[in-house]
Amino acid sequence: MTIESGLEKKLKETSSSRINSDKFSLNLKISKLKRNTHILSKNYDIKKYLDSTKFSFSEQYQELIPKDTPPYLDNGEKYVERIARALAFFKQCSLIGPSGTGKTHIVYLVCELAGLPMWEINCGLQTSVFDLFGRYVGLGKENWIDGLITSWCRHGGILYLDEANMMKQDIATRLNPLLDQRGHMVLTEKDNEIIQRHKDAFLIISMNPVSSEFAGTKPINAALRRRMSVWLNFDYMSVGQKIDEKEIELVVRLTGIDHKSAEIIIKAGAELRKQYKTGELSYGPSVGDLINWAKVVADGTTIMTAAEETIITLTSDELEVQQIVKKIIQKFLDIK
Ligand SMILES: Nc1ncnc2c1ncn2[C@@H]1O[C@H](COP(=O)(O)OP(=O)(O)OP(=O)(O)O)[C@@H](O)[C@H]1O
Ligand SMILES: [Mg+2]
Repeated sequence: MTIESGLEKKLKETSSSRINSDKFSLNLKISKLKRNTHILSKNYDIKKYLDSTKFSFSEQYQELIPKDTPPYLDNGEKYVERIARALAFFKQCSLIGPSGTGKTHIVYLVCELAGLPMWEINCGLQTSVFDLFGRYVGLGKENWIDGLITSWCRHGGILYLDEANMMKQDIATRLNPLLDQRGHMVLTEKDNEIIQRHKDAFLIISMNPVSSEFAGTKPINAALRRRMSVWLNFDYMSVGQKIDEKEIELVVRLTGIDHKSAEIIIKAGAELRKQYKTGELSYGPSVGDLINWAKVVADGTTIMTAAEETIITLTSDELEVQQIVKKIIQKFLDIK
């Protein structure tokens, strides 16, 4: 099965097994992941931390285990192993990094490698308390449906709270007792039923870094902060003047373009990322975005024409901003 069709299948499977899935960001994230079609061997050693043969889930929840996730490319930081270790030791961990540094991607990968169902919530979206904790359907108290967090707590897997710093206070407060590692939750909606956290219920939260240079972020709630033992920082491989030769080589290897062209793409991409981090642009390109740009170049298109079809329009719909991006790219073409 190709990666492409595997991810399509995953999209179908996951969206059908979600409550009100339109409210979650999953479809968007999967479609981002779908763009990544390269195949590399998955060489991760997480078994000593999370052994997939020791977990078992009923068929219904097995469907939530991601499949065919593309590999996560890093610079020897061993992020996959470090996340697995944090989950094994502390049951939960936190990922910090700007948009497009692969936080969501790596959570899918860890779920797949460990054989754990993935429950994803984007806290920035106005997801209702009912969707998260559950509700009675129909008249009376006959039919209760668990919400996403409740299902995770009962059945296990990895709960992924994206943009955790945007979480509404009422939800954060209810999560606190649950996040004391072997905690429990109280379903106030359902006659205060107490649910113990499943032994294989792990939690990963992620957020953009809070810094004066990074627009629109706010600090994470202190109670949640206190309950996290491990914090992993993610960043782009190349940003501003800091160019990582490995990212250039990666683009060459995955697309077949020449080294000089790859260097221009990475340098321009690094500048766009810097401007995104300082709030001047609203989007910073991920490594996947730069690879897509290079793929069009590899097909015989000039760097600028390929940029117009990919990175420029991706950065913004506004013509004015597109001109700024074009100028940045031109600057790197001129230096060549
Ligand atoms: N290190 C990496 N290895 C492989 N692919 C990557 C890497 N970093 C980013 N990508 C790709 O870049 C795209 C964006 O990644 P992803 O959505 O996981 O970022 P994110 O950090 O979750 O961003 P956000 O904060 O906006 O949610 C995806 O297509 C992903 O596969
Ligand atoms: Mg994400």
